[in-house]
Amino acid sequence: MRTQEREISTRPATEADIEKLVEVLAPGVTPEQVRERWKEHTEGTRRLLLAAIDGEPVGTISIGETRHYRTDSLRALSLDVGLAHREQGVGAALIAYAESEAIRLKFKSIHHEVGTTNDDAVRLYESQGYKHINKTVQNQWWVFPTDGDQRMEEETSWIMTKVLELPDA
Ligand SMILES: CC(C)(COP(=O)(O)OP(=O)(O)OC[C@H]1O[C@@H](n2cnc3c(N)ncnc32)[C@H](O)[C@@H]1OP(=O)(O)O)[C@@H](O)C(=O)NCCC(=O)NCCS
Repeated sequence: MRTQEREISTRPATEADIEKLVEVLAPGVTPEQVRERWKEHTEGTRRLLLAAIDGEPVGTISIGETRHYRTDSLRALSLDVGLAHREQGVGAALIAYAESEAIRLKFKSIHHEVGTTNDDAVRLYESQGYKHINKTVQNQWWVFPTDGDQRMEEETSWIMTKVLELPDA
């Protein structure tokens, strides 16, 4: 049974949201990871987008940077929704927000690398119209543990892609 619908809003993150995001995304995302995503936003390499329920931040997605020869495709990454706020449509709202940004920026498609064993995320992307070609990539990212040295993690991923319908020029 679907839970009661609550108002989900989306907007770019601001510095004032970061400590709330640290709280809401723990323990799956470490404080250092959240702060690194904000640093990337302030440096202009990526943009950190946020979803809120009743005005309270509950999840994020980052956009920016193109890889894997798809220079006409916007890369979305690091989709995370706080544990207490899942299965309420927040993930889908963030995916839709990233798509609207891609369309605004005139990208022809948008893609996200998703771990091949991350069934929840793969299903969510498929339900939003994403497809993957039957080819995997090794996705790498830095982890910043609170009590240890930063380390590189690696995951075999699909590139889930959606062709965007651009408005007539
Ligand atoms: C994957 C992830 C982002 C999904 O976020 P989410 O907010 O739960 O996503 P949604 O609520 O939009 O959709 C999830 C499911 O809830 C369902 N749902 C949506 N609104 C609902 C509601 N009001 N009531 C009940 N179910 C609902 C959706 O239909 C979907 O169902 P399905 O799994 O059977 O397809 C989240 O689980 C997460 O942060 N996981 C850890 C990080 C991760 O793996 N990120 C992806 C990296 S690629």
